Amino acid sequence: MENYEKLEKVGEGTYGKVYKARDKRTGQLVALKKTRLEMEEEGVPSTALREVSLLQMLSHSIYIVRLLCVEHVEKNDKPMLYLVFEYMDTDLKKYIDLHGRGRTGSPLEAKVIQSFVYQLCTGLAHCHSHGVMHRDLKPQNLLVDKETRRLKIADLGLGRAFTVPLKSYTHEIVTLWYRAPEVLLGATHYSIPVDIWSVGCIIAELVRKQPLFTGDSELQQLLHIFRLLGTPNEEIWPGVSSFRDWHEFPQWRPQDLALAVPGLNPAGLDLLAKMLVYDPAKRISAKAALNHPYFSDLDKSKF
Ligand SMILES: Nc1ncnc2c1ncn2[C@@H]1O[C@H](COP(=O)(O)OP(=O)(O)O)[C@@H](O)[C@H]1O
Ligand SMILES: [Mg+2]
Repeated sequence: MENYEKLEKVGEGTYGKVYKARDKRTGQLVALKKTRLEMEEEGVPSTALREVSLLQMLSHSIYIVRLLCVEHVEKNDKPMLYLVFEYMDTDLKKYIDLHGRGRTGSPLEAKVIQSFVYQLCTGLAHCHSHGVMHRDLKPQNLLVDKETRRLKIADLGLGRAFTVPLKSYTHEIVTLWYRAPEVLLGATHYSIPVDIWSVGCIIAELVRKQPLFTGDSELQQLLHIFRLLGTPNEEIWPGVSSFRDWHEFPQWRPQDLALAVPGLNPAGLDLLAKMLVYDPAKRISAKAALNHPYFSDLDKSKF
């Protein structure tokens, strides 16, 4: 680790601190992410190795943060794994905050939102085509370059290798705001559509500059969703009543999405509605989203 000069802390997440650092050999700015490893007798757990190589493979897409290398060090006899990533200016949460949350400040330009969503769907389609789901897509996990407005997916795949904790190491509660209803209802066999739900929540947040569903417990999160999209039932979502945590809920009718996300154009609202579909089997895929009319006036040659 003596090859890196730590500059400042840029993030504090689920597993540990992330530092901005400079590679002394090249001068390149990097992000150092420390992971807490539960070592096995044989050394680095094979699950962690598998995840890291998957991450390395996926990070060949320009819409996924590049993993430059992995440093394995011993600190006070404890094994540590540092992931070294390309450094990015900021993340999408900070980017939105920069423009003023909620109705304060100015809205993000429609063109900028469209480009962010396109890049996000491209990166996600890449992950999904390799059979990898992210599971924790949220603005903090999307890195942004302020100048070029490039967006890259970060914090990928570690969920499985390092087991997702309910609380971060700083006891910050892991956010439920982007979590798909099947996960909230206790589904055990959820899959890649969970990421599309998160993308829907992120689109709404980009337009509103405020999160769409802000529950502080699984139940509250579900109630927020049901209040806007209507309480689901067996008719619109076959099998919903068989989920582990299903019970009788208050009955709400679906509300008009346009009122919840004012400022999003009709094509955008149509795409959003196709992402926030209850039945995961009927939710639009990342690949299909890329061909949605919402992007028809986007200059795709830039990407
Ligand atoms: N490559 C990077 N460049 C700049 N900032 C980063 C980078 N990676 C992470 N960060 C910052 O650190 C925060 C936490 O990093 P993340 O990879 O999401 O870790 P965690 O698993 O702890 O959530 C991010 O939300 C972001 O603000
Ligand atoms: Mg994160």
